[in-house]
Amino acid sequence: MENTEKKLIQFSGIKPTGALTLGSYLGAIKNWKSMVEEYESIFCVVDMHSITIRLNPAELRSNAIEQLAYYIAAGLDPEKCTLFIQSHVAAHAELAWVLNCYTMFGELSRMTQFKDKSAKHADNINAGLFTYPVLMAADILLYNTDIVPVGEDQKQHVEICRDIATRFNNIYGEVFKLPTPVLPKVGARIMSLSEPDKKMSKSDDETGCIILKDSDDVIMRKFKRAVTDSDMCVRYDPVEKKGIANLMSIYSSFSGKSFDEITREFEGQGYGTFKAAVGELTCDAIRPIREEANRLLKDKAYLEEIYSAGAAKAARMASRMVDKVYKKVGFVKKPRLF
Ligand code: TYM
Repeated sequence: MENTEKKLIQFSGIKPTGALTLGSYLGAIKNWKSMVEEYESIFCVVDMHSITIRLNPAELRSNAIEQLAYYIAAGLDPEKCTLFIQSHVAAHAELAWVLNCYTMFGELSRMTQFKDKSAKHADNINAGLFTYPVLMAADILLYNTDIVPVGEDQKQHVEICRDIATRFNNIYGEVFKLPTPVLPKVGARIMSLSEPDKKMSKSDDETGCIILKDSDDVIMRKFKRAVTDSDMCVRYDPVEKKGIANLMSIYSSFSGKSFDEITREFEGQGYGTFKAAVGELTCDAIRPIREEANRLLKDKAYLEEIYSAGAAKAARMASRMVDKVYKKVGFVKKPRLF
């Protein structure tokens, strides 16, 4: 969508490394959706970021399409948002290269995610894993983005994006807008159900991670097995009662209720009742999304139409920024190639 109404711009993306999780839904997509009317909205399936780890190519392709279907099914209306696949817009790779030359080795070395991922994939610490935040900065800066709605783990990457943009602007003038990370009030860090001191993530163990594709039965079973404590009181204490605090965040995120209200609601009731209630609320919220995504996935031609139109719009906006940046750094104006 062109920025004709001069709305502020929100941009965000998710890696199609696996099925979407409850963490990415509550930490990101739900928040994106809440701001679609107010902001011009651009959402990306960031497949180029995904290949920093080794994935089966056929799986990556089908995950990307599936993720697009889930974006739409979750309420990101393609009439109101620009939805596209990152690798379809060459400007992302083009700007990333330029920004690589304005990003310092030291600052990339300090990125928490790089340190975690390189410990986890010690046999494949590739340069892409290291410069990952630079590609992410390119994603964001290409679109004059005002806000980047993300979960807590991505806040540091939006901050380095601001640092890179500031460094570039200090040399060449006001080329890039400085984006602000926006985290949801509740749900910015959903934890694993089986190990509540770890983030719920796609690479998590089976029992600790809810994926949006899970059936109601599977979701209920995972919540029933969620690790809690022996205190038997539904009370928000993210230090001493990590498991319960996490379940309360999920419940609060879906119901809009405060932690105090939840404590009152479940006073005198066992954890079993509370876990079942969180499970049911999650199932009720996710079921229609899953069903709609499955329906959309039967219509590949429609999905292709959406991502093609999205890429065309995104490419138009992004190429303007690439032209501007190329001129600033001193590249000869591109001839028309075809
Ligand atoms: P990714 O794919 O790991 O996660 C996608 C989004 O979901 C959020 N999230 C969570 N939030 C709360 N609790 C959790 N357990 C949880 N797990 C994931 C993440 O914070 C993120 O918002 N580098 C990014 C993708 C990216 C991007 C961008 C984002 C690439 N380019 C430009 C914003 C703007 C990533 O790996 O997210």
